[in-house]
Amino acid sequence: MRIAVLGLGTVGRHVVEALDSERELFRSRLGEELEVTRILVRDREKERPAGLDGRITYDPSAILADPSIEIVVELLGGLEPARTLIEQALRAGKSVVTANKEVIARSGPALSRSATPGADLLFEAAVAGGIPIIRSLQESLAGNRLEAIYGIVNGTTNYILSRMQQGGGGFADALDEARRLGYAEADPSDDLDAVDAVRKIAILASLAFGGWVDVDAVAKEGIRGITEDDMAEAKRLGGVIKLIARAEATQDGLSLGVSPTLIPLGHPLADVPGAQNAVYVRGEPIGELLFQGPGAGGPATSSAVIGDIIDAARSRRTGGRSVDLPREPAPLVPLGQHAHAYYLRLRLRNETGALALVAQAFASAGIGLSSVRQPMSASGESIVSLVTAPTRRGQLDEARLRLRRSPTLLAEESLILAELEPMDAPSAR
Ligand SMILES: NC(=O)c1ccc[n+]([C@@H]2O[C@H](COP(=O)([O-])OP(=O)(O)OC[C@H]3O[C@@H](n4cnc5c(N)ncnc54)[C@H](OP(=O)(O)O)[C@@H]3O)[C@@H](O)[C@H]2O)c1
Repeated sequence: MRIAVLGLGTVGRHVVEALDSERELFRSRLGEELEVTRILVRDREKERPAGLDGRITYDPSAILADPSIEIVVELLGGLEPARTLIEQALRAGKSVVTANKEVIARSGPALSRSATPGADLLFEAAVAGGIPIIRSLQESLAGNRLEAIYGIVNGTTNYILSRMQQGGGGFADALDEARRLGYAEADPSDDLDAVDAVRKIAILASLAFGGWVDVDAVAKEGIRGITEDDMAEAKRLGGVIKLIARAEATQDGLSLGVSPTLIPLGHPLADVPGAQNAVYVRGEPIGELLFQGPGAGGPATSSAVIGDIIDAARSRRTGGRSVDLPREPAPLVPLGQHAHAYYLRLRLRNETGALALVAQAFASAGIGLSSVRQPMSASGESIVSLVTAPTRRGQLDEARLRLRRSPTLLAEESLILAELEPMDAPSAR
């Protein structure tokens, strides 16, 4: 069976290498050989690995118009031209395997509808790299009523937070280290600002709960503001800070968000180290599950891509697998409807009555405080860290606005969720 690979970067290189070198293994699994006959790249000056001569092309139509190619593997990244090429391949009756979360989160259902019958759209590698979570949700767990998904789905931010937590310096040092080790891209904004994690939880939630999630409707908070002091406070409060992507089925609809979150020690997500990913799933009758492993990198991601290629190849010979993607929009809970406890760290002018002013701002917004600490006070400034009682985001923002109007507040330095699950969101079950 002939395959074309679009892109020969971090992931594409590993996929082509594995398909070339493990031909016999895959033939024995499939009963047929998989052969990469075309590889699309862009840069004519770049040096390519040996052994690819004659297969490299710069022209997508050399692939799309070739009827002998049955599977197209999209590993370009970015929205365009990836989205259009996937659509053209599916319309031409080719099955498509992609690792592109941006395209799937934005256009998954439309693309899957554009496919000619018998052509599959598979995207296991789009969420959590090598962890087989997509197929688990679509197939193995299809007999469950799922209640909640909590994921550490971005390796870059988990590396940075884990390093800070282990006393490896502040945010800037940890980011530098992540870059040096190849865990962070030259422009890591999508990772640090939670854009990447939003795309991934939107895909997971769409598969788990039915209804397609609009990525633009998911609340997000990144990790740029987290400091070593927050890590120390988290430890004192008995937890660690992780960037958590969250989806819960509640009686009011689907509640979604990505934010730095205080995870109590002992919870399985508290122990996910370095650049690893993990997805915690809870449902009935299965109970709790934790998927954990390498969420990125060429080898791990190629594992998921090749699994999809073999699946696509099998289904072309047996008459199609085609798991349909939800068409209707998911019913989302309006932002801020559910109450959470929040942790805040404030920098205040060191003056009499400063703490009273903070307490007053929260009390006026109807918010109780379950912990207030003033870990540092020096030369005109003091730091106050506090944890609120469960409160709705609207109330919290009212208190923050009051504080911001006062000259006593110099800066609000951190805002994180102080507990994983909302306090007032009855499960849909
Ligand atoms: N890297 C990971 O660990 C990882 C993990 C999970 C998922 N993914 C996803 O996998 C996909 C690929 O990521 P990557 O890290 O392998 O990307 P990458 O290293 O940047 O490689 C991209 C490849 O696509 C080619 N390309 C880009 N635009 C093109 C265009 N317009 N026409 C022709 N060729 C083009 C590039 O060509 P040149 O070689 O000519 O520049 C390059 O070979 C992305 O969707 C990413 O989100 C990556």
